[in-house]
Amino acid sequence: MTDSATVSPALIVDLGDRSYPIYIGAGLLEQPELILRHVAGTHLVIVSNTTVSPLYAEALQARLGESRLTDLVVLPDGEAYKSLETLNTIFDALIETRADRQVTLIALGGGVIGDITGFAAACYQRGVPFIQIPTTLLSQVDSSVGGKTGVNHPRAKNMIGAFYQPQCVIADLATLNTLPDRELSAGLAEVIKYGLLWDTDFLDWIEANLPKLRARDPAALQHAITRSCAIKADIVHQDEREGGLRALLNLGHTFGHAIEAGMGYGRWLHGEAVGAGMCMAADLSHRLGWISAADLARVRRIVVAAGLPTESPAALPLDTLRQLMDSDKKVQNGKLRLVLLHGLGSAVVTDKVPETEILATLRSTQASA
Ligand code: NAD
Ligand code: GLY
Repeated sequence: MTDSATVSPALIVDLGDRSYPIYIGAGLLEQPELILRHVAGTHLVIVSNTTVSPLYAEALQARLGESRLTDLVVLPDGEAYKSLETLNTIFDALIETRADRQVTLIALGGGVIGDITGFAAACYQRGVPFIQIPTTLLSQVDSSVGGKTGVNHPRAKNMIGAFYQPQCVIADLATLNTLPDRELSAGLAEVIKYGLLWDTDFLDWIEANLPKLRARDPAALQHAITRSCAIKADIVHQDEREGGLRALLNLGHTFGHAIEAGMGYGRWLHGEAVGAGMCMAADLSHRLGWISAADLARVRRIVVAAGLPTESPAALPLDTLRQLMDSDKKVQNGKLRLVLLHGLGSAVVTDKVPETEILATLRSTQASA
């Protein structure tokens, strides 16, 4: 392990005066000074959940508590708790601990904790600083970077939120050692997404290295996380508030979010729904003649090799799935906009897909009962 004074950022998210570093490495959580570099005040509030708290948050609270007043808020675990009700419990805790505008919130957990804590930070006293410490693969490669924060509405994923950037992101690779296999696969969905939408060389690398990634080879994980964050940082730098380009990061998500909401939050993991959603987007792209049958088969092979589903669940009626797709945040003036593939490594946003083709994809990509 290196001294925190010598830990350099792996990347910078370049957003002018809101730029911030991303640190990626094993053992970073054991270096409280790294966090304190990015803290101006004397009061810290760690937000975590019932699973991550005993693994990492209580120890971090003790370390930070040596030099700062450090409170810990422990939320129930699960996507179903990424809600306005849970957000309110964070506000209750902040008010109870007399947190003022100089408080720094620390999101310690997966994407659910990162999204809800970031949104709490954006709202509390009209904005206090926060730090992202992602502990799942999915949150290390995606949700902790780029400043999308928020909670779910019962009928629509991530519908209530804010763009609000953290002070820094600290991805400790050692935390992945305790992650269940199913959650690791869910994170690989977002890694595959970057290759599919942006970078064929990276896609080739992912395809060749999936066995190593699933075996948690440290060097492979470090490369996958660093390259994924670099692609995301590049896109966010060009289009922070999703005026256009950033929508590409939603490849597979219109289908995926509809599966998550339709099945009830938490039954399908976000990454599982994105895995199936990317195969559905690839199927539709193939119907439109934008990718070959061989490319479609390759997408499915990669998703299967990551341990992810390729089809929507048999239990979700197709008319419900189709209706839920209309709650997507990319809908503009009532028109559905989809992220599809124009060849592998190159994604586009389109509102010009005939409804008959969308329905044909939904029919052909549903698992049989
Ligand atoms: P999650 O936060 O629910 O974490 C998955 C599970 O792993 C939870 O049970 C959690 O307690 C547990 N866990 C976390 N770290 C662990 C560790 N080190 N060891 C053992 N268990 C651990 O799910 P996720 O996949 O991290 O995130 C999904 C969420 O992220 C969704 O709500 C999704 O909408 C959101 N998301 C947001 C963005 C964004 O840009 N803001 C991008 C992608 C996804
Ligand atoms: N995960 C999609 C985005 O950050 O824009």
